[in-house]
Amino acid sequence: MTEGPFYPQPAWRARGPFAGDWDADLTRVARGGRERVADGEHLGLELLVRDTRGRALDGAAVEIWQCDTWGRYRHPRDGALPAEVDEGFQGYGEARAGAQGAASFRTIRPAPYAGRTPHIHLKLRHASFGEITSQLFVDGEPGNAGDFLWRRLSAAERAALAMKLQPVPAQQGARHGGLRWQSRHVLVVPA
Ligand SMILES: [Fe+2]
Repeated sequence: MTEGPFYPQPAWRARGPFAGDWDADLTRVARGGRERVADGEHLGLELLVRDTRGRALDGAAVEIWQCDTWGRYRHPRDGALPAEVDEGFQGYGEARAGAQGAASFRTIRPAPYAGRTPHIHLKLRHASFGEITSQLFVDGEPGNAGDFLWRRLSAAERAALAMKLQPVPAQQGARHGGLRWQSRHVLVVPA
């Protein structure tokens, strides 16, 4: 898939509002000496990079970006007014897959925006396969059936790209700063 219009380019990330703070926790942003917390339902997302034979591939650089829970991208091309953007949501984050091929993010359950079903944009880089750009969808989301990109996918592609979100039990979620959902999703790469 393509990057789409809202991939935050490295030059913009270097001088953007969170310059130097593009970590894997998209739900907490330090600004002006205080921490802001993202609106929306927080999601613990573990991505597992595997080759087509099921072997873990370590060292992949993993980037994700998505709109905030109000449907706005943290990107100059979005055109949102400052008051329309969730100042507690980082919008973009990056991590490196460790020895077991796992990269962990904390983000929000993806939200819909005009014309699109909820999705998380994804980019993977690794010496063995180069660069892959894709999107993750939510399994069972009613909006998928009407989404132009989802409709182009084969059944196998849909299965590969639809995250299964599990609700986090309330007590456990409370211990993790209000975590509502979790997902472990395998990303199969042609390595
Ligand atoms: Fe998008």
